[in-house]
Amino acid sequence: MTEKTSRPAVQPAAPQKVFVRTFGCQMNEYDSDKMVDILGARQGMQIAQTPEEADVFLLNTCSVREKAQAKVFSDLGRARELKKLNPNLIIGVGGCVASQEGEAIIERAPYVDIVFGPQTLHRLPELIEARRRTQKPQVDIRFPEIEKFDHLPPARTEGPTAFVSIMEGCSKYCSFCVVPYTRGTEISRPLEDVITEIAELAEKGVREITLLGQNVNAYLGAIDAADPQADQSDFTTLLELVSEIEGIERIRYTTSHPREFSQRLIEAYGRLPKLVSHVHLPVQSGSDRILSAMKRGYTALEYKSIIRRLRKVRPDVALSTDIIIGFPGETETDFAATMALVNEIGFDTSYSFIYSPRPGTPAADLPDDTPKATKLERLQELQSAIEANARRISDAMVGTEQRILFEGPSKKNPTEALQGRTENNRVVNVEVPLARQAQLIGRLCAVRIVQAYPHSLRGALI
Ligand code: SAH
Ligand code: F3S
Repeated sequence: MTEKTSRPAVQPAAPQKVFVRTFGCQMNEYDSDKMVDILGARQGMQIAQTPEEADVFLLNTCSVREKAQAKVFSDLGRARELKKLNPNLIIGVGGCVASQEGEAIIERAPYVDIVFGPQTLHRLPELIEARRRTQKPQVDIRFPEIEKFDHLPPARTEGPTAFVSIMEGCSKYCSFCVVPYTRGTEISRPLEDVITEIAELAEKGVREITLLGQNVNAYLGAIDAADPQADQSDFTTLLELVSEIEGIERIRYTTSHPREFSQRLIEAYGRLPKLVSHVHLPVQSGSDRILSAMKRGYTALEYKSIIRRLRKVRPDVALSTDIIIGFPGETETDFAATMALVNEIGFDTSYSFIYSPRPGTPAADLPDDTPKATKLERLQELQSAIEANARRISDAMVGTEQRILFEGPSKKNPTEALQGRTENNRVVNVEVPLARQAQLIGRLCAVRIVQAYPHSLRGALI
């Protein structure tokens, strides 16, 4: 007798499990959560703790720099080994590499079962089903407007903070960047959908919302979803409405772009106390020559003017940024201009990268004769300046009173301390006896900072 016929006719099927490995930006982190949500809601799938126990293994890929892109195929090689152990395993590739490469992924790695893009992840259940039914790999990397959001289940919440996507894609076409090609042009979600989602999250206990998008301040959403041609709301109006939602106490957003950082948005910092005193505003370079070659659409002076006006309405605002080192043709003088800007503004915890030529982008064709070693030296110099600044800001916080949103038990000392974040996004560990912890999680509390460490702060309840 074969094993099959020896079993009862109907066996209760164990729930299938999905494992998602994520690379790249917060938009990808968000999308990965949505993949799990939709497979859970539509197919009852659960999260696998390890790739080995997964029935569906998904790679959510990033192509913003070459290194991230190169990782995909080495990771797929490892996934192939998993398939030897479990021949029914479905291997899926999503995200920006999938969007760029499409069919080519299957040609190079024929054991991949499905390829889907950032705008088609809501079709995962159908793609998996079609793969199983037809025994053929499935590829869907279209940009079907913004239908994704109409097919997603209500957001799950874990604790008092949540991310909400308000727009997708980018229409800026900076000369170095692949995002407009992999994620499509800017499309905003209708205003009422965003507000309804945030109100529901607030009802479930969420206190801090991070509005997500490649260029959130380019937001232009239909006020009435049924009539997208009628009136539209800009980002500032959206912020005003989110501010009025009962229960929401803090509003963050990422990423914004200097080109659309309007005076109206700056003034919102004067009247909306729920907007945190922290802005991440990518500058990329301090040299006008390089900014122009990057097609960023602003000068260093214009960038500094935004910061000056912002500080006028919110003197305590913390600023962070993204910087690219070694863009083609970057000279010592250009680099010095970047260093001068960094020192003048006094950025907090910023991200800096060496320029990575991306196939298909205009900058990839520019002559680039700066030696790699010079670029590395410049990056080191920049990063030490940025780190010194972050350290200086942390040290200056010692002795001050900060409002902390308690998110949960401290990672290092879960029974005796809680962990929360300041407005400028620093983790603070605060001693709280176990008996009082549940009462404080999800609450904003005043805390005195007593010590600064390289990656966190210690505080005491006031
Ligand atoms: N929307 C954001 C950026 C999204 S990409 C903006 O307004 O700038 C995230 C960051 O990756 C960018 O800010 C940039 O610093 C970096 N980046 C993008 N393309 C890159 C490339 N080809 N090489 C190196 N860094 C890059
Ligand atoms: Fe990329 Fe520039 Fe848009 S960096 S995401 S093209 S604003």
